[in-house]
Amino acid sequence: MTLLVYGAYGYTGELVAEELADRGRDPVLAGRNDVKLGRIGTRLGCETRALPVGDADAHLDDVDVVLNCAGPFVETAEPLVEACLAAGVDYLDVTGEIPVFETLARRDDDAADAGVTLLPGVGFDVVPTDCLAAHLADRLPDATHLSLGFEPHGGLSPGTAATALGQFADDGAVRRDGRLVAVPPGHRERRIDFGNGVRTGVTIPWGDVSTAYHSTGIPNVDVYVPMPKAARRLLSASRHLRPVLGAEPVSDALQSLARRFVDGPDETERESGRAYVWGEARNEATGETAVSRLVTPETYALTVDAASTAAERALDGDAPDGYQTPSTAYGPDFVTDLDGVTRTDDA
Ligand SMILES: NC(=O)c1ccc[n+]([C@@H]2O[C@H](COP(=O)([O-])OP(=O)(O)OC[C@H]3O[C@@H](n4cnc5c(N)ncnc54)[C@H](OP(=O)(O)O)[C@@H]3O)[C@@H](O)[C@H]2O)c1
Repeated sequence: MTLLVYGAYGYTGELVAEELADRGRDPVLAGRNDVKLGRIGTRLGCETRALPVGDADAHLDDVDVVLNCAGPFVETAEPLVEACLAAGVDYLDVTGEIPVFETLARRDDDAADAGVTLLPGVGFDVVPTDCLAAHLADRLPDATHLSLGFEPHGGLSPGTAATALGQFADDGAVRRDGRLVAVPPGHRERRIDFGNGVRTGVTIPWGDVSTAYHSTGIPNVDVYVPMPKAARRLLSASRHLRPVLGAEPVSDALQSLARRFVDGPDETERESGRAYVWGEARNEATGETAVSRLVTPETYALTVDAASTAAERALDGDAPDGYQTPSTAYGPDFVTDLDGVTRTDDA
């Protein structure tokens, strides 16, 4: 069985490629730059394939699973998914971008007909929150509202910073009555104990606004991160700058600055960092609630483990056909089976 890792020389892709090589999976490493690929291929002793995403269909004959680590995924997911559907190859990625989740969800029937798994979001965004959402839906099956949140401790990688800056001018998003609704960024604030003391959280357009509905059927979903007062003020002020920040030259310049100046957490930071994940399901009519929390390794360490394990399980034939979320593919305990993750339920 052959696994192809696309974007294998980016910050995340290289860590994932290393991990899969360490696990003896002998991944084929792919990306658009043959010089950068050559360096990592030599270091890890893996085969390499230099190809732009648009040419993937000519390179998948002997491949069983593609794991895409090249983002922003709005640029890379669709061409790779088309090639995977045509070749009968399972597709996984580490996106957190709502438009990508929604686009792939619309290909559910095509994927089921082709006998292909489409499983985006196998990184920190959205494995812990999605598995916690499914766990909470099991605890409170008639929940009408789901709130999720996380407090990360550790740095950002270049691609995450660039992807986030590319979305800076976009609306926030929440799910209301089953529909995605655009809202201003940080439109709702709430005091939350993510597991590390009470903080003020604000809503962000995290991937679960799309995926948690597919995983749980709960029609109202919002996602929070803690934000200090000064940052909340900046976020609110940035609403007036959105037309400027959204202009293509400004957005492109910000993204290239992020790629140049952001390095990503080093090994020590990945080993020592932690993330606190919180979720609450509630039934609006009865007032009943269920709260659960996770403590996980640092977000990139978790991403590497989750993405590698998800891809291994797809290679082993564990992943169902059609559009999947991490929890519909592998169950709510997928996250607690990863190294260093603990889950607690409030009484
Ligand atoms: N779900 C999660 O929790 C999670 C965790 C980590 C990262 N991510 C996401 O993963 C992505 C990568 O992050 P990173 O920090 O690893 O970024 P990075 O170091 O900047 O690497 C990005 C990789 O994507 C490739 N790439 C970008 N656009 C491409 C395109 N149009 N065609 C082909 N290849 C393209 C780059 O190749 P070139 O060098 O040739 O441009 C590079 O290999 C980001 O979108 C980030 O948000 C998500």
